[in-house]
Amino acid sequence: MLISRADSASLPSYRAAVFLCKMRSKDILLLLLAGVLTAYYVYIPIPDEIEEKWKLMITDCFFRSLIHLAEFSDLLGLKDYMWVMMLITVLERTVPVSDKHVHVTEEVFDGVQVIVYEPSQQGGDGELRRAVIYLHGGGWCLGSAMMGPYDLLSRQTVQELNAVVVSVEYRLAPPHHFPIPFLDVYRGVKHFFQGAVLARYRVDARRVAVSGDSAGGNLAAAIAQQLQQDAEQSVQLKAQALLYPVMQALDLNTPSYQQNEHMPILPKKLMVRFWSEYFTSDRTLLHAMLANSHNSLQSGRMLKYVNWTVLLPESFHGPYNYSAPPLANRGPSYMGTALTDPRASPLLVPDTALRALPKAYVLTSEYDVLRDDGVMYVTRLRQAGVDVTHQHYTSGFHGAFMFTVWPTDFQIGRRMVWNYIHWLKENL
Ligand SMILES: *[C@@H]1O[C@H](CO)[C@@H](O)[C@H](O)[C@H]1NC(C)=O
Ligand SMILES: *[C@@H]1O[C@H](CO)[C@@H](O)[C@H](O)[C@H]1NC(C)=O
Repeated sequence: MLISRADSASLPSYRAAVFLCKMRSKDILLLLLAGVLTAYYVYIPIPDEIEEKWKLMITDCFFRSLIHLAEFSDLLGLKDYMWVMMLITVLERTVPVSDKHVHVTEEVFDGVQVIVYEPSQQGGDGELRRAVIYLHGGGWCLGSAMMGPYDLLSRQTVQELNAVVVSVEYRLAPPHHFPIPFLDVYRGVKHFFQGAVLARYRVDARRVAVSGDSAGGNLAAAIAQQLQQDAEQSVQLKAQALLYPVMQALDLNTPSYQQNEHMPILPKKLMVRFWSEYFTSDRTLLHAMLANSHNSLQSGRMLKYVNWTVLLPESFHGPYNYSAPPLANRGPSYMGTALTDPRASPLLVPDTALRALPKAYVLTSEYDVLRDDGVMYVTRLRQAGVDVTHQHYTSGFHGAFMFTVWPTDFQIGRRMVWNYIHWLKENL
């Protein structure tokens, strides 16, 4: 079995009680807040297709409370919005340590902090191993390689593939706006790809993949593209795994953004906030993005790369009608460059830049504002002739991939992890 932890009791009320007890031991303030707001929040409708609905409601209640607390605190000028949201990361933080199966070290790759997970058993014959570079999610503003679910995922990957995992602790916005998170990852990867470093970890240079979920999937896709355009880069990736990735900032009103505007765990408002914070702390961009009126004449020329009426199969159109985002004559200066930069929005490249990309695994979820970002990239990669495995979870929601650790452990999260690792086994 990939996941050894047995299922605990399935009574929803018991689960809820245990969940809340665990919270209390960690943060009394959040418990109280969650408690007070539960009555209100559980009435948010969650689609019937979603499994373990009750548990998702409680989890969502916690996230939503935190979002409100962050907004409130930001409004009063007490603490910055993302500072409050960072509690999610703090609560789930663990100390990655070596055990019987996995040897863990914290390293610095050309100034970039990484955690390296290796199989403990030294294969005596000096056989080279595969490697996975992992980039965590969290909207470029939150998250850490040291969160429990990412630590667990890295260990599972090492054990199932007998591979080396490099989990990158890139710097976050704010204060580190685009392109710093991207550049951190790129520097770390280039360092790892040096012959001497690969040799030190006994990694086969022909069998390295990059993977990431959500904003990590965005960075993974961008890394795969940029490495290829780097003339001095001889080592290239063999595969890329993009788990409900963020792919574009031009159209924040795709059918999936509309359908899932209030869906747990990532409401549209929060995703738009992540985008705007990635680029700037100037709130004008946030408000323009919320209205989908942030495009300029310059970015307007790239809307063809995210035209969902062409790039989404009919089945994803739903009842929504396409209308191109309006173009403003002039926007703030940051809009011109970052908004059209494929290192931020990997969908914004011509087909010629996609053709030679490594084979791809793309996971999408039906109940996710980012669903259409992933599906559009699948269409574009396939049109360019790239080998793509697309797994669409019709009962999936955003964040499920990392909901594998008690008390927020979901069956669907385990299935997602299993299917992803299975794909790596076969394709890396
Ligand atoms: C999107 O595609 C439709 C259908 O081909 C077309 O009418 C529309 O002009 C396109 N919009 C943009 C911005 O490319
Ligand atoms: C899309 O257009 C059709 C035909 O004009 C209309 O009947 C439908 O209500 C529109 N859908 C939405 C979501 O506005």
